[in-house]
Amino acid sequence: WHDEVLSIVVVGASGDLAKKKTYPSLLKLYEENLLPKELTIYGYARSSKTHEGLRQHLYPHLIKTGTSEHIVNSFLERCFYYSGKTYGDESAYTSMIGDLAKFESTSESTVANRLFYLAVPPNVFGESGMVIKKIGMATTGWTRLVIEKPFGHDLDSCNELLKTLSDDFDEECLYRIDHYLGKEVVQNMILFRFSNPIWEPIWNRKSIESVTITFKENIDTNGRGGYFDKFGIIRDILQNHLLQVLTLFAMEPPENDDADSIRDAKVEVLKNMEIISLDDCLLGQYDGYSDDSTIENKDTNCPTYAALRCWIHTPRWEGVPFILQAGKALDEKLCEVRATFKPAKTLASVQSVSKKIEPSELVLRLQPNPAIELHNNTKIPGLSTSPMKSKMTMSYEDIPDLSNPDAYTRLLLSVMRGDQGSFVRDDELRRSWEIFTPLLHAIDDTGVRPLPYKPTSKGPEERVKWMEKMSKATSPLQSSL
Ligand code: BG6
Repeated sequence: WHDEVLSIVVVGASGDLAKKKTYPSLLKLYEENLLPKELTIYGYARSSKTHEGLRQHLYPHLIKTGTSEHIVNSFLERCFYYSGKTYGDESAYTSMIGDLAKFESTSESTVANRLFYLAVPPNVFGESGMVIKKIGMATTGWTRLVIEKPFGHDLDSCNELLKTLSDDFDEECLYRIDHYLGKEVVQNMILFRFSNPIWEPIWNRKSIESVTITFKENIDTNGRGGYFDKFGIIRDILQNHLLQVLTLFAMEPPENDDADSIRDAKVEVLKNMEIISLDDCLLGQYDGYSDDSTIENKDTNCPTYAALRCWIHTPRWEGVPFILQAGKALDEKLCEVRATFKPAKTLASVQSVSKKIEPSELVLRLQPNPAIELHNNTKIPGLSTSPMKSKMTMSYEDIPDLSNPDAYTRLLLSVMRGDQGSFVRDDELRRSWEIFTPLLHAIDDTGVRPLPYKPTSKGPEERVKWMEKMSKATSPLQSSL
């Protein structure tokens, strides 16, 4: 596709996502010469702006990326702006696509591809999709649509949303972004697990006692309270980002390395996952959450922290608790997967040395300081015979000249390459909502109160006992055996 013409349309070009993520990621690909030479980027939104107005609006965000002024300016020369009354405005689209077609016709290349990036809320996916289908489809190349979460609010709204676009577009055209799939450590998961023969024999219930996937942010809802309050931490982080990480960690080896084999293997995990109930869950809300002026309901029970225990009923994972926890306004920014191993069978022989042998752990840290760490027991060097915890670390920061692009940059490149492996397929999405919807409805319907916690703390105090209990629990299936 490098020799082909590429037109990109950023729908919602004047919004937050576009200026913070979409355009900077496109700039990065442009800088690295990863986009076709014949490239034009059309921004579309409702606010009225000139081409120059858009460029000025984007400039500070692009220059912040560290790219040289010369490259930013040359990138901006390829950016244009069109506005319409609505996201489905046919006459505005006709004029924009008319100009786009003129640009395509100046090329000698016989293939002209079109990528539509929908950086807009899901309530306008339908009208955007319809007008793209009617006016915007490529005639000599591919047409691809990139869409952003939230992909619904629960199972029913997800199904509706899926239908809005599936009436007009085949699944092969749709790229549902979950930006966690573009993070380096997540992208590494398949290779790390399946290319090192030491892992497969112990990547299962025989050796692993529990798996904890943690997301922590030390910022609060940051003025986004009005939006956040409609979703809560479970919809914002757990049902998508952490569940995606879980499926890659837990899946069986895919039959092949193509996108569908990988996604088939992930869907299998979800199919075998038990539906989550309120009893499997600990909820929290930080003090002062509803003071945010954008939150209307001052008595809101929206969770800003949640910890859940999940079961995966497969021979590999039966009886291993998977704990997912996420929270805002906590003590640090962190995202990691932590597999805790069972005590060694030979423990008795070393127990005389010390009773304080801690479990071995494998930690895959997504951020900050992405790294893979193996925590082991070793003898304290010297005359002591007691154990100490030691770490074997592969830190990405220690790799010289490493370019670690933003998740969006990688994912956008995958869209251009037509690689859907790191995007969420429709059946995967549907099943993820099936797993979470009963819990979400129970929270909304029962009005259950989340436990309070102090901003900058580790979460509700009750969490410590809850974690201890849940990570030692037996699954319902196990206990009925
Ligand atoms: C988004 C959530 O999907 O992910 C935000 O809506 C959250 O609430 C963000 O802050 C976290 O992303 P990252 O890449 O900064 O960990």
